Amino acid sequence: TLAFAGAAQAQGYPTKPITMIVPFAAGGPTDIIARVVADHMSKTLGQQIVIENVAGAGGTTGITRAVTAAPDGYTIAMGHLGTFSAAPATYPGLKYDPINGMQTIGLAGGTPILIVARKNLEAPDLKAFVAAVKANPDKFNEAHAGLGSVSWTTCTLLKGILGTPKINAVAYRGTGPALNDLVSGQIDFMCDQIVSVSEQVKAGTIKAYAIASAQRSPALPDVPTTKEAGLPDYQIEAWNGIAGPKGMPKEAVDKLVDALDKALNDEGTKKRLLDLGAVLPTAEERTPAGFAALIKRDADKLTPALSAASKQ
Ligand code: MLT
Repeated sequence: TLAFAGAAQAQGYPTKPITMIVPFAAGGPTDIIARVVADHMSKTLGQQIVIENVAGAGGTTGITRAVTAAPDGYTIAMGHLGTFSAAPATYPGLKYDPINGMQTIGLAGGTPILIVARKNLEAPDLKAFVAAVKANPDKFNEAHAGLGSVSWTTCTLLKGILGTPKINAVAYRGTGPALNDLVSGQIDFMCDQIVSVSEQVKAGTIKAYAIASAQRSPALPDVPTTKEAGLPDYQIEAWNGIAGPKGMPKEAVDKLVDALDKALNDEGTKKRLLDLGAVLPTAEERTPAGFAALIKRDADKLTPALSAASKQ
């Protein structure tokens, strides 16, 4: 009977590599979180999780592909606040329904938002930056990763608060490529998730005006909160998490949830995430139901805020 149990287990999910779609370019926050977490999940699952970057339309192209794939557990995606909570309010014809039409796995990491700028932008701090963009909105270029992306969503909220919707916005296939242009000084600023910019901020190749969280990040203790820097109304928490098509076998869901939890409990993986500035998910947020509740809560918050900002 032991030999039989062993054979049955060996045939169980997963029997081949799993594709994790990252709906943005390589080198950006979604790609970074996906690679760190998938690296350890692969060990637990005994099969490789292969990252596939499918960029376009603010991440909705890649998520559409993932959640409309065969629900066999072999195609999943790393999405985020943008693709799962903001995109439905941004794209009327969206081909997926994050609330009722996909299988959530769990939250992979909280990713605080930083207002970052090219290092030689004249404004030395957030107050000066705010005064400068209010005085001359048309003189500034903002980078983002497409309508409905996190960078677009969070900077749209920022511009709503500042009353400067006219700032020129430039779309990229992810904030990884946008960061290159920020470092080289071709764009002026962006609102980005901490994990892809923290190293550059530490190295001084770009500057960070503020973090839009209640607390400073231990990864960047010198960067003030928006409250400290004089813009208390600008508070937004971004995150990245895993989902797949609705109808996946329970065995696959359970194993993916367990592998994510083990990755987030692994000391090496935790350190990699924390060093980049990510926030570790709670036990509840690591469950399909806890993650689904977060998606819905943020969709409920963002939908009115984004429609108000777009009417300016
Ligand atoms: C990325 O991975 O490039 C970002 O998460 C894009 C975004 O701002 O949503």
